[in-house]
Amino acid sequence: MLDLKKIKDEFKLKLGKKLNLSEINQIKSDLFGKNGHITLEFKNIGKIAEAERKNFASELNLVKGELQNLINIKVREIENIEINEKLEKEKIDITLPERNFIRGKIHPVSQTIDEISSIFSEIGFSVAEGPDVENEYNNFTALNTPDNHPARDMHDTFYLDPKKEKLLRTHTSPVQIRTMLNDKPPFKIIAPGRTYRSDSDQTHTPMFHQVEGLHIDTDINMGHLKGCLNYFIKEFFEVKNIKMRFRPSHFPFTEPSAEVDIGYEIKNGKIVIGEGDKWLEILGCGMVHPNVLKNVKVNPDKFQGYAFGIGIDRLAMLKYGIKDLRAFFECDYRWLNHFGFDPLDVPTNYRGLSR
Ligand code: DAH
Repeated sequence: MLDLKKIKDEFKLKLGKKLNLSEINQIKSDLFGKNGHITLEFKNIGKIAEAERKNFASELNLVKGELQNLINIKVREIENIEINEKLEKEKIDITLPERNFIRGKIHPVSQTIDEISSIFSEIGFSVAEGPDVENEYNNFTALNTPDNHPARDMHDTFYLDPKKEKLLRTHTSPVQIRTMLNDKPPFKIIAPGRTYRSDSDQTHTPMFHQVEGLHIDTDINMGHLKGCLNYFIKEFFEVKNIKMRFRPSHFPFTEPSAEVDIGYEIKNGKIVIGEGDKWLEILGCGMVHPNVLKNVKVNPDKFQGYAFGIGIDRLAMLKYGIKDLRAFFECDYRWLNHFGFDPLDVPTNYRGLSR
């Protein structure tokens, strides 16, 4: 009995101090391990005189319970301290100033392509694509362009081999050919993309962007072409009253062919699209030449339709008041920051006219 009291007092004292987990484990094993004090006392029970045995056993169980209880409390205390320390360390300091970060901008050409695609998709056009490196056949021959046509000239076209079989496409029109060769009519596509010509000054860069349009079916006429372009121009410039005229022209791949001008005026030194007595050429178009349809195995007696080609960079300059085309492709971050579009805040009203 005396031993029991000693053990109890000694370990109560120990457990009253500041301990870590490994110290507690040590105490556990000192008490309840194979040779632990409490374990040994249990083994002693048999040796105790019968008269005292019952008393001793019940006292021993009490001491065991009390010490075990103290150990459990201590372990919980330590775990709580650890959790609190962790919470304290990982606390977010909401008083810190925000970190500066730079958000990228959408290039005006990409923005304009998005706008054009969404306007045409509203009237049933889907988007087609073709490669920048084209073959001579798709870029010229299939488009009914004669061998002696000036567009084929070395001064105009970037050829990639001495035989002049591969080239950087000079327009997006070869996507018409690819689309019609790969599929069956009817066709209703637009094809935006990069195009290349050997040209460089304030309004020409060796690489520029066009969007091609093609609509072929059994009953498509020039009225549809006019309606489609008129709709597009109004939507794109977000102007209800816009003057548009078709001027006779020539392209080898269309017959008849036309160039389209829109009306504008200069107000306070700024170009205003819509009314006015000045004309600005913005695209070429026409009814697809029967020879082109024959080249892609489409029967011209059954199918016909229109095509058009629009200069995208020019449209972007007009809509967003950008004066020098060359700056588009100089990768000057300051320029992009000024003329580019915030990806999270693009103009939402560019589809505004029809809503
Ligand atoms: N490919 C012509 C060019 O680059 C533009 C063009 C004109 C495309 C008339 C057409 C079209 O599809 O019908 O100047």
